[in-house]
Amino acid sequence: MMKLNTDLKMLLPLFIVYSLLSPCSATDYFQPEQIHLSYGENVYDIVVTWTTYSDCKSSVEYGIEHIALKAHGNTTKFIDGGSERRVMYIHRVLLSNLTSSSKYVYHCGSDLGWSGVFWFLTPPDESKWSPHLAIYGDMGNENAQSLARLQEEVQRSVYDAIIHVGDFAYDMDSDNARVGDEFMRQIETVAAYVPYMTCPGNHEQTYNFSNYRARFSMPGESEGLWYSFDMGPVHFVALSTEVYYNFNYGMKQLVKQYYWLEEDLKKASEPENRKKHPWIITYGHRPMYCSNYDFDDCRQHSTFVRSGIPVLKWFGLEEMFYRYGVDLSIWAHEHSYERLWPVYDYKVLNGSVNQPYQNPRATVHIITGSAGCSERTDPFIPNKPEWSAFRNSDYGYTKVKAWNDTHLYVEQVSDDQDGKVIDNIWLVKDKHEAFNNLK
Ligand SMILES: [Fe+2]
Repeated sequence: MMKLNTDLKMLLPLFIVYSLLSPCSATDYFQPEQIHLSYGENVYDIVVTWTTYSDCKSSVEYGIEHIALKAHGNTTKFIDGGSERRVMYIHRVLLSNLTSSSKYVYHCGSDLGWSGVFWFLTPPDESKWSPHLAIYGDMGNENAQSLARLQEEVQRSVYDAIIHVGDFAYDMDSDNARVGDEFMRQIETVAAYVPYMTCPGNHEQTYNFSNYRARFSMPGESEGLWYSFDMGPVHFVALSTEVYYNFNYGMKQLVKQYYWLEEDLKKASEPENRKKHPWIITYGHRPMYCSNYDFDDCRQHSTFVRSGIPVLKWFGLEEMFYRYGVDLSIWAHEHSYERLWPVYDYKVLNGSVNQPYQNPRATVHIITGSAGCSERTDPFIPNKPEWSAFRNSDYGYTKVKAWNDTHLYVEQVSDDQDGKVIDNIWLVKDKHEAFNNLK
């Protein structure tokens, strides 16, 4: 017995050194979960993001058709703000300079645990690409009604990417962020196969949007609150409308985003950039207009996002969108679908009586927030305002396909009606330019 104790004492320093050098502690949860993709700084850079509950390294093994390459990334410790202070580790690995028109397979993890194998497709030469996206907001862990249809479509490679326009999980921080974990596991079924691009909504505001900022990996330097990226003929701009409504976190973010946006739109409007990416499409959670039967800000005449902060009227976005010729603005928050006529400051500025969306003279707005959540869908006020073209409260989502420089197709799918297309428009632009040039 004495001999054994002596041996253990001798081994103790060795054990401590081993523990310190080991990539992970000896207990726990190294199995990757909640795997999702996003674009990096361009569409041939893909970021793989996932979660473990113990600290370990971040690697992705990948390749065209079979695994042949390995990339390493970083691990960030995230502590949820709830009473349990739950700890998780968010892993991010960038796969850069991918080959166009290829099917990549990948798995992620570390030597202590690997995910199953997933796949994604890379776009062709961007100048020959007509990207197709599913776009929606307001999808929760409970009653995520549209998800099954999206899962099936993603597996058939219908989409190049998905955009989720705020309000996730209901809410990601709920039950000490377990609802966020469950939601991220749910969307893995689509988000591990196509880039899942996001912006924050009001349901992400707890603990200063920390669950949102920690769990997603968007381009740029704002932790996914605002950023832009190009897909073929489209320049997408993601915004946080929440900077207009959460002054408890200060006004700095609002000012930063506003000046960033002005710079981004100015750059996107430079002739050589607009030639390459003529369509400018913005997305943000809370709409400038809506005709729902509720008391949300979009029911007010001068919404904060449209006209700026109360009284001072600073930082409103509608005038900026008009000045840079934003073609399409996509919103959510209202749990319904609403398509507006081209509108500026409540004036309907259709292209012509017969072809309203052919060379429209203002931005077209679409509100698509009925993917499915525990709060159910939202009804409309009885009399449709003159700026509203089509409204529907079915569960569903929007599909957008940018066919080329002049033609963009938008349709609304009703999940309640078994995938029926309940609305569609062709937005046609012979020229993309500032709307105030058209006066
Ligand atoms: Fe919302």
